[in-house]
Parts: sequence; C-alpha cells; structure tokens
Amino acid sequence: MEQERIQILVLVVTIIVIVLAATLVVFLLYFQKKKTAYILKQREIQQRFDKEITKSKLEIQEQALQNISWEIHDNVGQLLSVAKIQLNILQLNAPQEQQIKIQETGDIVSKSLQELRGLAKSLNPDAIKNRGFEESISNEVDRFNRLKFVNASLKILGEPFSLSNEKEIILFRIFQEFSNNTLKYSKAKNLAISINYTNNQLEFIAEDDGIGFDLTDESNQNGIGLLNMKSRTKLIGGEIEIKSAKEKGTKIFITCPK
Ligand SMILES: Nc1ncnc2c1ncn2[C@@H]1O[C@H](COP(=O)(O)OP(=O)(O)O)[C@@H](O)[C@H]1O
Ligand SMILES: [Mg+2]
Repeated sequence: MEQERIQILVLVVTIIVIVLAATLVVFLLYFQKKKTAYILKQREIQQRFDKEITKSKLEIQEQALQNISWEIHDNVGQLLSVAKIQLNILQLNAPQEQQIKIQETGDIVSKSLQELRGLAKSLNPDAIKNRGFEESISNEVDRFNRLKFVNASLKILGEPFSLSNEKEIILFRIFQEFSNNTLKYSKAKNLAISINYTNNQLEFIAEDDGIGFDLTDESNQNGIGLLNMKSRTKLIGGEIEIKSAKEKGTKIFITCPK
C-alpha cells in the first residue's frame, strides 16, 4: 500500500517536472523567436534608413552638380562668348600681321567654349536624362579622346534598352567616379568600356590599364569614391565587383536589373 502511494507520488512529481520543463522550453523558444524577429526588424529599419540617407545625399549632390553646370554654361560660357565677339570685332580692323594671331586666339576661345559646354552637359542630370545612359557614356568617351586624357573605347553588345532615369543617372555617376580615379591616379593609357544588354539586366564594365592599387590597403579606404560606387549600386538593386592589383589596372563590373 505504502509502496503504491510512493509510486504514484513519483509519477505525479515526474509529470509535474516534465510539464514544467516543457513550459519552460516553449517559453524560451517563444522569446527566442520574438528576439530574432525584433533584430530582423531593427536591421530592416536600419537598411531603409541607410537607403534614404544615400538617396538624399544623391539628391543634394545632383542639385549641386546642376548648379555648377548652369554656372559653367551661363556665366563662364557667356563671358567666353563675349570675348569671342570682341575678338571678331578686333579682327575686322586689325593690321594684317596681327590677323593670324587674333584668329588663333579666337579658335582657342571657341574650343574652350565647346569643351565647357561638353563638361556642363556631363554634369547636368537633366542632360543625362535627355541623352540617356549609353549616349552620355559615348560622349564622355569622345571627350576623353578629344582632350587626350586617355585612349577610351566603348563596346556595345546585345539589344539596347533604356533603364529608368534614376538608374541611368546613378550608373553614369558611378562611371564618372571610376573615370575620375582613372584620370587622377592610374596613369593608364587605355580605358575600355563595355555595355552588354542581356535579357533581364544591363552589364557594365569599365577597365583601365594603369598602375592599379591594393584594395585591402587601409590607405586606399579613406576615400569615399569606392564606397559611393558600392552604395549607389545597391540603391539601384544592382551588384558591383571592383578589382584592382598593382601594375594590373583597375576594373569595375556592374550588373543592374532592367
Ligand atoms: N583607377 C585607379 N588606379 C589607381 N589607383 C586608384 C584607382 N582608383 C582608386 N585608386 C586608389 O584608391 C584610392 C581610393 O579611391 P577613392 O575611394 O575614389 O577615393 P579618392 O579618389 O577620394 O582618393 C585612391 O586614393 C587611389 O589611391
Ligand atoms: Mg575618387
């Protein structure tokens, strides 16, 4: 009799312990799940916040570039136009021996005016929108070749299509960031660009054959150019690969969905 009661007691205690343990496990799992969901939510909020910041930084920058572009076009351009007109007037009454010099000076002023207009267009977001990505790149290639900055080439593959204005401007700005680096640091002779239109995405490659650099070296991580290229690509839902090695040149490979 006594033994039976003890057995029942043990059974009851065991059941109570099992129930308690199971409840504890359920609670722990529940809180763990809650915690994970909270962390994911926080991460998502942070990512959305970062995206908004990148976006507004870009908008501010585009506005600044547009202002610079207008300044170049309207102010400096206007002044050069006036100088050109005055040279023409001067040439009319100038003695024969000064004619050639005045003509040459006039040509230089005209050329400067033309280059300034080209530069203004490559800065102005509206001009990029109007021309589209491919033509904007093509114009930069011509400008680099004309000014003998570097021997630039452009290869187009596939059936061309347009991306949204926003994507095209951002892609073009990434290219400008890259080409600025090429002109500033690389000592490259050649800059090869290719645009490949595939079924569902645009592939963009720009590659210089300059001195290259060590991507892992801390001294190269102070600039914001490379970081900008990455955050901008992310913003348009694309992917970027930046490759560089000492004496082997530098390359970016970007894919951007349609
Ligand atoms: N195409 C390139 N050729 C050689 N060095 C480069 C090239 N692009 C970038 N670099 C190196 O990487 C560094 C970081 O570039 P970036 O992030 O654009 O910053 P910044 O141009 O402001 O210095 C540069 O200072 C330069 O030393
Ligand atoms: Mg830079």
